[in-house]
Amino acid sequence: MQLIEHVAEMTALARSWRSQGLTVGVVPTMGCLHDGHLSLMRLARERCDRVVVTLFVNPLQFGPNEDFAAYPRQQRLDCQLAEEQGADVVFAPDSRELYPEGFQTTVKAGELAKGLCGASRPGHFDGVVTVVTKLLLLTCADVAVFGEKDFQQLTVIRHLVADLHLPVEIVGAPIVREPDGLAMSSRNKYLQGEMRQEALCLYRAITEARRLALATPPPAAADILEVVRQIVAERGGALDYAVIVDERNLREVPAVDGHSRLILAARIGGVVRLIDNARLLPDHA
Ligand code: PAF
Repeated sequence: MQLIEHVAEMTALARSWRSQGLTVGVVPTMGCLHDGHLSLMRLARERCDRVVVTLFVNPLQFGPNEDFAAYPRQQRLDCQLAEEQGADVVFAPDSRELYPEGFQTTVKAGELAKGLCGASRPGHFDGVVTVVTKLLLLTCADVAVFGEKDFQQLTVIRHLVADLHLPVEIVGAPIVREPDGLAMSSRNKYLQGEMRQEALCLYRAITEARRLALATPPPAAADILEVVRQIVAERGGALDYAVIVDERNLREVPAVDGHSRLILAARIGGVVRLIDNARLLPDHA
């Protein structure tokens, strides 16, 4: 496996793969890899001749008071993990490579980026779509794999690719959970002491919402959300938002059907912001 830090080198290699007719699967990450990321790499490996894992903590997607500086970084271990999953290249540029002096052109996400996480993280998705566009183009990606945990991000990226006619297939991969249900996230590293237990409020709320949604007829979305709010509060989380949306367009829905997804974000211990989501009914009921 090769570690590449320069855009020119990455682009040259990707172009040579393309000229040989090889397909390229890309897994964009900010590093600090966990089993969720590894599952994305396995999907890319199954689908493509060559796999590139990108490690880049993207300054453009962090707000001024967010955790850019503190974001966990472990490049050596990440390279080892990527290699074990059969990655051909880890592309780990620094900020000056992707945003050299004079850089001034960005991509702007649309409506889908305004609500949910976009409401409390203004500009976040513009940063995401800007870096993802660059990464997909410079790796000549045929396929790019993203986790469903960041469901809004996945939806925004699907739109990006359709709107800009980027010739890339976007694959969404299921959330990977710890044995007790906590969705895997690099930010779980911030959970200290009791916060680890409190963080389960998200999964508990999801489990209960899914149980309620199975009733015939299911309760109204507003009633399910009331229970979600109670569970998160009782277990020590501070809810940022909880919504039930149509997963195809992220619009809120009054009643649950096979396309309904509960999406929520909460602060644990007042500081660690975690997100989670799940479809409420089994496969398109
Ligand atoms: O999901 C992430 O880790 C990041 O938002 C991404 C897609 C790698 C862009 O920086």
